Amino acid sequence: MESVGYSLSRIWMLFLLFWLGQGRQMAPPGFVQSSCRSRIFWMKLNKLLLQGKFFQLEINDPYAGPVLLDEKLASRCGYVLSEDVWGNPVFRASVLGCHVANEADELFSLTVNIKVSSFASMRAAVTYTYPMYCSYSSWAPREIVCEENYMEVSVKTDVPAVSNDYTVAWMSALPETQNVAYQLWQLMFVSPSGRKRIMVSDAAKLGYSFNNTLYRVYLRAPYHSNESDISTVNGVNMNLVTSTSMYRQRWLLMLIDTTVSCPLDGISFTDTTLTWTVPSVIPTLVLQESTFLSKNIAMGVDGQVIVNPEENNYLLEHNKTHIGITIPIGAEGGKLKSSVSCGVYGIIYSIDLFLEHTWTDADWQTTKYTIIKSITTPFMPQIPTVINNTLPEERIFNIAFGHFLPDVSLVSITIGNVPFTLREAQHHGYKIYETSFSNGTKGFILEVSFDDPCVLKEYVNRNETKYTLLVNYTLSVGPEMVLYYHSAEVECVIADIVIPEATGYCDEENLYLAIPVFGLHQYWNLYLGAKLLNQHTALTNGYLAASNSTHLVLQIPLFAVGVIYEEVSFQKIKARFDVALRKVRTMETLQIFSVSCNFNPSAFIICHPDGTIMISAQMKTVPAIDMSKTKLRDSSCKPKEYNKGHAFFMFHVTTCGTSVRFEGDHIVYENEISYERETLPGQSQPKITRDPDYRLTVSCYYRAKETVMLGAFVSEPSTSRPFGSGTMVPRSNIAVYRRIRKALNVVSRVSKNESFMDFYEPDEAILKQPMESVFLEVELKDESPDAELYLDNCWVTGSLDFNSAPRWNIAMDGCEIKSSEYVAEFLSVAASPRVRHPSHFKRLAVRTLTHQLEQIYSAI
Ligand SMILES: *[C@@H]1O[C@H](CO)[C@@H](O)[C@H](O)[C@H]1NC(C)=O
Ligand SMILES: *[C@@H]1O[C@H](CO)[C@@H](O)[C@H](O)[C@H]1NC(C)=O
Ligand SMILES: *[C@@H]1O[C@H](CO)[C@@H](O)[C@H](O)[C@H]1NC(C)=O
Ligand SMILES: *[C@@H]1O[C@H](CO)[C@@H](O)[C@H](O)[C@H]1NC(C)=O
Ligand SMILES: *[C@@H]1O[C@H](CO)[C@@H](O)[C@H](O)[C@H]1NC(C)=O
Ligand SMILES: *[C@@H]1O[C@H](CO)[C@@H](O)[C@H](O)[C@H]1NC(C)=O
Ligand SMILES: *[C@@H]1O[C@H](CO)[C@@H](O)[C@H](O)[C@H]1NC(C)=O
Ligand SMILES: *[C@@H]1O[C@H](CO)[C@@H](O)[C@H](O)[C@H]1NC(C)=O
Ligand SMILES: *[C@@H]1O[C@H](CO)[C@@H](O)[C@H](O)[C@H]1NC(C)=O
Repeated sequence: MESVGYSLSRIWMLFLLFWLGQGRQMAPPGFVQSSCRSRIFWMKLNKLLLQGKFFQLEINDPYAGPVLLDEKLASRCGYVLSEDVWGNPVFRASVLGCHVANEADELFSLTVNIKVSSFASMRAAVTYTYPMYCSYSSWAPREIVCEENYMEVSVKTDVPAVSNDYTVAWMSALPETQNVAYQLWQLMFVSPSGRKRIMVSDAAKLGYSFNNTLYRVYLRAPYHSNESDISTVNGVNMNLVTSTSMYRQRWLLMLIDTTVSCPLDGISFTDTTLTWTVPSVIPTLVLQESTFLSKNIAMGVDGQVIVNPEENNYLLEHNKTHIGITIPIGAEGGKLKSSVSCGVYGIIYSIDLFLEHTWTDADWQTTKYTIIKSITTPFMPQIPTVINNTLPEERIFNIAFGHFLPDVSLVSITIGNVPFTLREAQHHGYKIYETSFSNGTKGFILEVSFDDPCVLKEYVNRNETKYTLLVNYTLSVGPEMVLYYHSAEVECVIADIVIPEATGYCDEENLYLAIPVFGLHQYWNLYLGAKLLNQHTALTNGYLAASNSTHLVLQIPLFAVGVIYEEVSFQKIKARFDVALRKVRTMETLQIFSVSCNFNPSAFIICHPDGTIMISAQMKTVPAIDMSKTKLRDSSCKPKEYNKGHAFFMFHVTTCGTSVRFEGDHIVYENEISYERETLPGQSQPKITRDPDYRLTVSCYYRAKETVMLGAFVSEPSTSRPFGSGTMVPRSNIAVYRRIRKALNVVSRVSKNESFMDFYEPDEAILKQPMESVFLEVELKDESPDAELYLDNCWVTGSLDFNSAPRWNIAMDGCEIKSSEYVAEFLSVAASPRVRHPSHFKRLAVRTLTHQLEQIYSAI
């Protein structure tokens, strides 16, 4: 059964009470609205004036006693208590309903008491008495109303004429009429379970209301009564009560067909429309279908007849079989409501419709058939949209979130992972505001700066930043104020990163790169080939790195590792140094910083990775030697170029008598530049030369595995080495090592300070200021405790070669030497956990007195 309106609300109760004539007041203006729609009293209360209050309706009947109305009674009495789509309470009553004063079937009146209280118990209620008057005279011979909770048929008592087709039905009813009580109305129902004849006084017990007025007889039936039947007409299920009313007087037997039939369904929905379909012809109501003639079809919304449905985009169609009303969802007259179902946002649309169909047929002349129907769509999910109106130029995210009905409000917002109330968000500098659209929907706009701490930033591509805004909206939805969450992610990529440009320059001995420090280590790193260039690699490669607030300046000595020699010739080197700028995460190369300069060193040796050795040797001798006569071990290898004091050799490591040996994980190629004095025949006096067999050992070190070029130096008497990186590489001299190894196991180390606790790694480059001491320790291993280590000669040289020159002695015959260049000092050795036999150790502190920075090797 269609539920009666008041069951929707917990607090509504409907009472029938006597007119007590007390506590009555006039209703405040605007509170009650009423009208007569066709033959129905229609009353509406303004919900705004009922906010926070409780109310009851009473029917004022001057004659009947008070009756508490329940669902059954409402349907029997022709009342509907419901709500319109806006939530306003609605009361409808048939003019043929109970307690309606009827004057000659033309004037009808019904008085309602509206009791309003602030308490659910209705204590201290104010009662407003509200009389309603309707006049209705255009009765059709038969009128049928299909209300939400009842079906009503009323017929004029001077009709119908018994038709031929009827005869069989009437004749079959005749035997029953023998028993019809004199001057009493009786009712006979025909249903699948058979016939049932009742006295009118019993109709109420079965839920029916039957009575006669001055000119009419009516029957009101609830839906789905025991005597009813369901049949399908053109696809629509109809509830049907087939009945005949009977009245007998002495000279008269009156039989009236009071059959009524109303649709139970016929509603369908699409995403955008709802359609209500009703059969055009209902066979139980039109027995002679051939005489059926549809006269008028009208539709109405919210009780008002709509004359031009198309103006509101309603569609009213009919054909021989169906009458259809199609309403676009959201159309005027109905109500959209927001809702949340299973965490999904959606809308529900409701509309109160009625349909009035007037037809004629041979039996009834005119029938007016009215259906009143309230239609609500199922929940329709609507995923809210987030529209990205971001303004990259202004570095502002602008996102619109919508579209929402006015019954939705924004409660709070989470940006990044930080929750904000609206007030906090405004305070934090986020702009949040509402916009309205012409169709009555609204959206929420949020503006967040790219530079906000809650915005995620990621360095992408070459010079771009990806800004990501994560938002989680909390909305309050619908009259029930259900919370709904919606999250969105908006990104914007803009090229706002400037890739640094380095400037390069040189002095006589170094290349320099000044690189902006912005973004270094954050976005990108510097790489030397495949190797990260950091403090440690700079140090081991002999670079100097200095930085101020804006720039990092790298100083790369001409002969440091990593320098590329583009052109090498006699006394001229074109050298280049490259540093790659690579992204921190992907290692993708963004930029190569390069500095390239020409140098004119007086002497050098370059060991190219391909095995080519280039030497510019400076030889100052007295008397000057003829440089054209210098040669390598293979005397056919002569200088490529020369002048008075220089010779330039270029040869491959596989030629010119170059020797090769392994030293640790290095391959060492060695050759010798020498000059052979010529004895000139016929010369009178032999001259004394300083060193007739002048020899210069040249070595190139290659890493055995990588064959990466290592710088090496040659040095020669009376010239200081042109360039120095200020490093000192201590090594035990290989030649000595080999020699001693036959007898003794001697280990030498360099300590980090005079405590001799912490030592540098073998082969580790050590940076020392001039005048700073270097602490050397020599240990004799695997010998008896009473053995004593005695250092004979110790010296410092500029190369790894045992025989290299020049050399500066630091200890001779076991005694310290103090020269103008070096000071060496023996330090005492005390026993300690790592010094079991102090006599096996010797320690030396050595410092240079010159300010010149040099790369030297010490040999002990
Ligand atoms: C309808 O029929 C059922 C079962 O026959 C009975 O219990 C019920 O009371 C009847 N309802 C009315 C209103 O007579
Ligand atoms: C029929 O209507 C009359 C007049 O309004 C009323 O007095 C009577 O009680 C009604 N009978 C029933 C059964 O409702
Ligand atoms: C009449 O209209 C209904 C519904 O609009 C439709 O299903 C039916 O096919 C139509 N019948 C004719 C004969 O056009
Ligand atoms: C309201 O208008 C907006 C834009 O004008 C549109 O996107 C939205 O779908 C409309 N909403 C309804 C319910 O018509
Ligand atoms: C949004 O916030 C709600 C409530 O705090 C939470 O349940 C939901 O998981 C959040 N959504 C996302 C994507 O973080
Ligand atoms: C948002 O809009 C900006 C600016 O038009 C655009 O660059 C960006 O790609 C958009 N982002 C998303 C996720 O749509
Ligand atoms: C970013 O790099 C692109 C090429 O990758 C270049 O066209 C653009 O000008 C650069 N923009 C800025 C701001 O450096
Ligand atoms: C930092 O050093 C660079 C390169 O030497 C120079 O151009 C720049 O002006 C210096 N900046 C400051 C703030 O001293
Ligand atoms: C020497 O170095 C060690 C560790 O490197 C340190 O603990 C000690 O204090 C230093 N001694 C002196 C005298 O600087």
